[in-house]
Amino acid sequence: MVSLTTCINNLELKNPFILASGIMDEDAGSMKRILQEDAAAVVTKSIGLHERNGHSNPTFLELEHGLLNAMGLPNPGIDSYGSEIKKINNDNGKIIGSIFGSNVEEFEILSEKMQNYGVNALELNLSCPHAKGYGLEIGQDPEEINKIVRAVKQSVSIPIFVKLSPNVNDICMLAKAAEQGGADAIVAINTVKAMKIDIETKRPILANKIGGYSGKAIKPIGIRNVYEIFEAIKIPIIGVGGITKGEDVIEYIMAGASAVQVGSGIYYNGIQIFTQLKEQVIKWMTQNNYQNIKELIGVAHK
Ligand SMILES: Cc1cc2nc3c(=O)[nH]c(=O)nc-3n(C[C@H](O)[C@H](O)[C@H](O)COP(=O)(O)O)c2cc1C
Repeated sequence: MVSLTTCINNLELKNPFILASGIMDEDAGSMKRILQEDAAAVVTKSIGLHERNGHSNPTFLELEHGLLNAMGLPNPGIDSYGSEIKKINNDNGKIIGSIFGSNVEEFEILSEKMQNYGVNALELNLSCPHAKGYGLEIGQDPEEINKIVRAVKQSVSIPIFVKLSPNVNDICMLAKAAEQGGADAIVAINTVKAMKIDIETKRPILANKIGGYSGKAIKPIGIRNVYEIFEAIKIPIIGVGGITKGEDVIEYIMAGASAVQVGSGIYYNGIQIFTQLKEQVIKWMTQNNYQNIKELIGVAHK
């Protein structure tokens, strides 16, 4: 019998599969459906203090090898979002509340409200590449990361995950700053800054011009980031970027991830991707004589 149970510090997950922030997670209905598949947890859409419409259209396009988006963090604002979280019956899995703010005070308010709504953990989005004043704009300064994590840690008692961007010189330095601030896990990676120009109109296609690239093409970037972070810190890592099949999950775990998140994979395979991943991972482990997924964490470093 294969065991897929994994732990992110003291948050126990029935398997390593988590829905990534921003995909089918604005309302309770779709998150419930995903928890009824084989996802162990869902991360909510990133929520800020106030309602935001996000960028104008076009905000999303499919490219040859991945997806490009510049949604601009549209969300209903923290005060309206509580009712959605309360509607999710989390007997089937865990809820991770994703939040974004522009300074320490905003993160403190957001984290306390999310905790009061009953989420099992928090994910601090310090990595969105296309929202002015948020995300990556503050998530590339180790001192700022350290201050935010430290303040959130003092405000709440649930585990805190810090989501980092690959669009930086040294992601390990940022992961260390988060660990020193008291983070319980690192989530890597958010989307990769990218753009697409329409050669007929000679203009960028996205209204925001620049967006974040996700899906199959970014998997090697995600793997490299997880591998390097694993050597730099002691807290667990959640790997994300380009996962569409069981072998991708095994690769992230071998690089050092204790769990993985799936976003664009839903665009390609539908929400049944979680059940497919579970079956494919079990098949690979059985064929390769592994009983426990934890045995595989970081084996590529030995
Ligand atoms: C349409 C879309 C919206 C996203 N929104 C968020 C978001 O609100 N917060 C966040 O932290 N990441 C967001 N992401 C990034 C994903 O959570 C994930 O880190 C990234 O897409 C890489 O994983 P993937 O290749 O499995 O999609 C978004 C991605 C997409 C494609």
